[in-house]
Amino acid sequence: MCGKEDAVVVKNLSHRYDGNVALVNVSFALPKGSFTAVIGPNGAGKSTLIKALIGLIKYSEGYVRVYGFDPLKDPESVRKIVGYMPQRESISMHIPLRVRDVVLMGRAARKRLGVLDDRDVRIAKSALEIVGLESLWDERFVNLSGGQQQRVLLARALAVEPKMLILDEPFSAVDVPSMEKITETIEIMRRERNMTVLIVVHDVNPVLHYLDYVILLNKRLVAFGEPHEALNENALLDAYGSVIRIIVCEEGYCHPLIGDRHA
Ligand SMILES: Nc1ncnc2c1ncn2[C@@H]1O[C@H](COP(=O)(O)OP(=O)(O)OP(=O)(O)O)[C@@H](O)[C@H]1O
Ligand SMILES: [Mg+2]
Repeated sequence: MCGKEDAVVVKNLSHRYDGNVALVNVSFALPKGSFTAVIGPNGAGKSTLIKALIGLIKYSEGYVRVYGFDPLKDPESVRKIVGYMPQRESISMHIPLRVRDVVLMGRAARKRLGVLDDRDVRIAKSALEIVGLESLWDERFVNLSGGQQQRVLLARALAVEPKMLILDEPFSAVDVPSMEKITETIEIMRRERNMTVLIVVHDVNPVLHYLDYVILLNKRLVAFGEPHEALNENALLDAYGSVIRIIVCEEGYCHPLIGDRHA
């Protein structure tokens, strides 16, 4: 059921939290090395979908495979190959750890016994460098600003040296220059290592040019396809319940006016 070249296969995935419906019959497949954005309104089930992929929830129904692994039966194997960054609201601001400990968790996730060596430290430092915070290596995580904390958690995901990056609203408190540097680095890593990227965003425009696919979600899969297919006004109206205008510019890229760019 899982194609050899597919990083992710999701079939008829549904989830309810105590009767509260979060996902209904969602199906799609993502090839290895692809870059996909998940968009949709608040409460659309975006985080739930991601949690189902990495075995953080026991979904109600359906079939999910990540690089051939079943996240319900084998979440450890999935977490060894996936670098995951949770949504900001779910990050504890009281972690009594230093930045280096947080980033090194990404290395420990790969190891059975969690014993770290110099190579792990090197990789963790370079991940912190990618997000531009290498000077904060010894700082206490709790003393960082919200955006800096997010960037450290992104570094933790990168430190896994993952086959797949799954990021839940990674840029919500991150300044524009950092966001641009991070997206460029992710794109380079994707090209060099054939890394698969799945990213939840509210504003798709900053990553639009990198995207192979867009998943438009509102509990059910409203649209899935290449950006110019999925980002059409009817599908956006269907997902968001209000008219979202599209401006078409530059080489046929369709830019929807979502997120910060509401007119
Ligand atoms: N732990 C939980 N217990 C009960 N209901 C939940 C829980 N987590 C999410 N839900 C509900 O499931 C639905 C989908 O939530 P989810 O967090 O997946 O949405 P989202 O698309 O990520 O939204 P946002 O854009 O606000 O992050 C919402 O109605 C939410 O209230
Ligand atoms: Mg969410």
